[in-house]
Amino acid sequence: MKIKNLLKVDCLRERLLNKGEYALSKRELFTIILDGIAEGHNRSFDCVADGIQTTFFDYPEAENFLHEIDTQKVKKSYLQHKKSKAGYFQLQNRRYLGNKYKLLGFIEDIVSQKCGAVSSFCDIFAGTGVVGDRFNKHGVQVFSNDFLSANYICLQAFLGSTIDIQKNIIEKIKHLNSLENSNENYFSKHFGGTYFEKENARKIGIIREEITEIAESENEKNILVCSLLYAMDKVANTVGHYDAFRKRLDMLKPIKLLMPYINYNRNRNNEVYKEDANTLIRKISFDVLYIDPPYNSRQYSDTYHLLENLTDWKRPEVIGIGKKMDRSHIKSAYCLKNATQAFADLIKNANCKHILLSYNNTGDSKDGRSNARMGDNEILQILNQKGDVEIFEKEYKAFTTGKSNGENNAERIFYCKVTK
Ligand SMILES: C[S@@+](CC[C@H](N)C(=O)[O-])C[C@H]1O[C@@H](n2cnc3c(N)ncnc32)[C@H](O)[C@@H]1O
Repeated sequence: MKIKNLLKVDCLRERLLNKGEYALSKRELFTIILDGIAEGHNRSFDCVADGIQTTFFDYPEAENFLHEIDTQKVKKSYLQHKKSKAGYFQLQNRRYLGNKYKLLGFIEDIVSQKCGAVSSFCDIFAGTGVVGDRFNKHGVQVFSNDFLSANYICLQAFLGSTIDIQKNIIEKIKHLNSLENSNENYFSKHFGGTYFEKENARKIGIIREEITEIAESENEKNILVCSLLYAMDKVANTVGHYDAFRKRLDMLKPIKLLMPYINYNRNRNNEVYKEDANTLIRKISFDVLYIDPPYNSRQYSDTYHLLENLTDWKRPEVIGIGKKMDRSHIKSAYCLKNATQAFADLIKNANCKHILLSYNNTGDSKDGRSNARMGDNEILQILNQKGDVEIFEKEYKAFTTGKSNGENNAERIFYCKVTK
């Protein structure tokens, strides 16, 4: 990585004073620079310092390290194999904001090109778990983590189950599907007639209650709740998340739980966690760390509050039209102003050989909520303290409300070979 223009105001002043060209105090020098910035660079004072032709207005920027880095553009298309078995659902059959299912080939290519043979892979912001699942092969230990309960129990079900309890699960899913709708319950009272059609909401409530009664182990409970969450996704009156429901309630088909397609043999050495990524990173080590944090101010706990509520099943008080519970314990630092500090801490404490970070250049939105929390220069500065960095970029067309916004956006992976 090249570092250019590493000059500081202090150093500039020193040089000018030495040359006897401007007898300015540091404060005066700053005032001139800031005045100039406020006037839109109109007052440009050209100066020559040690043969470098520049203006005063370059210097405040020169306080930061400016990284120049080659970006490798990838135009290859990746096809997904959609295997499915009647009566079953798979880990990727879920709507989830920011899921990387369509980018798996791109990620896998970078790992095989840069990391060689991998014996352990950590997906520390796992969400649906599709990325860890792609590396869940014989001889590879997969670590999956997400601090939301709904994600955690699905990760446990698909990537953490090691004992084949299919027979029990088949029986119990049959039983849950046969439950008769009864009276109003916690779930139907709050989420019926809005996020779900009334009958479905009543059934979801009874099924969740019954799972607590019939599950014989933690693993069984995780698998059954996971089956319920995936089934709810198919009948939810939403656009795929629970920030809002659609005005017209037209998802009327009855909810039906299916069997998860779990490969128990591959999960033998895997580990699944429900922790804050920055806490977990201090406790584990592996070959490859894949980082896919939220990249704007939208908290996943706001968007998926309903699934958290159902998974934890503590029946908390809910408020507002959205019927959201208290979510103060599941706010992510990566959506806040201190995202950069959280990321720096994560990288500093990572004990691994390779790091891959997914982080998009979203551009600036009108409301600011979609703007990326970390700038490229900050990311590069932090990763560079750990090793050499390359950027891989996969072009795709961004669409907003069904229409193209006319700009080419890119999915990017920052790759860092850890050397320090
Ligand atoms: C962009 S999504 C990951 C999507 C995932 N790669 C996939 O393909 O489904 C980011 C995830 O990070 C989780 N998350 C946010 N902050 C976290 C934190 N501090 N520790 C652990 N998980 C966190 C969110 O719950 C969310 O599921």
